[in-house]
Formats: sequence, C-alpha cells, structure tokens
Amino acid sequence: MNKLIQVAIDSPAAAGAGTQAKLIAKHYNLLYLDTGKIYRFIGNLKIKNKKKFNYSLIKKNISKLKIKNLQSRILLSNRVALEASIVAKDKKIRKLVYSFQIKCAYKPPKKFKGSILDGRDITSVIMKKAMFKFFITANIKTRALRRYRELKLLNKKITYKEVLKSIKIRDKSDYNRKISPLKKTTDSILINTTNLTKRSCFLKIKQIMDKKLKY
Ligand code: C5P
Repeated sequence: MNKLIQVAIDSPAAAGAGTQAKLIAKHYNLLYLDTGKIYRFIGNLKIKNKKKFNYSLIKKNISKLKIKNLQSRILLSNRVALEASIVAKDKKIRKLVYSFQIKCAYKPPKKFKGSILDGRDITSVIMKKAMFKFFITANIKTRALRRYRELKLLNKKITYKEVLKSIKIRDKSDYNRKISPLKKTTDSILINTTNLTKRSCFLKIKQIMDKKLKY
C-alpha cells in the first residue's frame, strides 16, 4: 500500500499559503483543508447568534460540517477574520474542531493520494509528523496589499489601511496566544513569498516535494 502524502503548512494571515496549498493539492491530488475557514465559520456563528453563541451550538454545527460549507463568501470578510482570531484563542473551541481536522489529515477519502492542511498550528499540533512541513511567510505590507486586492475583487468596502491594521491585530494575537500559537517549527521549511510570483513559489515547493517523492 502506498503511503499517504501529508503536507502541513503554517503561515501568518495573507502570506499566500492558501493559494499554494490549492496548487499543491491539485497537482498531487490531495484533499485540501483550509483550517482557518473552520475558525472563520465559528467566528461567523458568533456574529450571527450573538448571546445564543455557546459551546453546544458550536458542537452541533461542527458535527454537521462538510468542507463544502467552508466555501461560503461570507467567511471571507474582514469582520469574520477578526472574530475568527478571537474564538481561536479559546482552548475548548480548539478542542471541538480538533477531530474534524484530524479526520481530514489522516483519513482523506480514498480518491485522494493524501492531504494538505494549512493554518496556524498544523506543523506544531495537528500534523506534527507530516512528510512535508512548510512555514510560508511574506512581509506585512505585501500581505496587507494582497489581502486588500482580494477583498476589493469581492467588492468589499475596505481601505488598505484597515486591512493592514486588521492583519497586525491578528498577527499579534496568533503569534502570542497561549494555546497553539503560530510558530515556525524547527523541521519546517521556510518559504518567503514576498518577492516570488505564485508560479515560482509553487515550483520551489514542488521541487522540494518531488525530490523526496522521487517523482
Ligand atoms: O487562515 P485565516 O486567516 O483564514 O484564519 C483566520 C484565523 O483563524 C487566524 O487569524 C487564526 O487566529 C485562526 N486560525 C487558528 N488556527 C488555525 C487556522 C486559523 O487559530 N489552524
């Protein structure tokens, strides 16, 4: 039996990890899970339910969750992103979403050759033993500009300054929180996308992966 290809990626907000993860998933036929979307989903539940938002509501919604539910456009807003980074600090909430991520990581449907997950604690908690571990980053102004352009394409009313501010808030929270903070593990390969095109970044990752996979 062939061993599953497992790829773990961590990155700060808007560093290009999602774009790369999608390209890698397509190229190697891997199940892709953007774990940030799970926290965005919970952040959105909090916005929608206000005072009715509690752990049992989260549990109920997570038990029915499918990857396709995470594709909703509502989850892309800046407000939801900020709320996501607040709920992501809660130990009990992280526990509630743990098994969903583990199932995707270790038991992808048979049609896939493996899995690729990206987020903040994938290399350090969720897929510690992944065959490939990457830490993708870029300087903060580049990240803010990329996210600003993405939001503009979605017709969101937001300024570059607001995006930059929100990324700074999220970085601070994601790197410094007590539970599962964002960090580069020593066994992760650092990829800085600041001066790389999407294609050249993908080729760099592909070269690393092909070497080990002996493609
Ligand atoms: O990746 P994205 O920007 O969509 O993530 C939204 C928020 O979810 C992050 O700012 C972070 O606080 C949280 N998150 C997390 N752990 C993950 C993925 C995302 O805490 N594995």
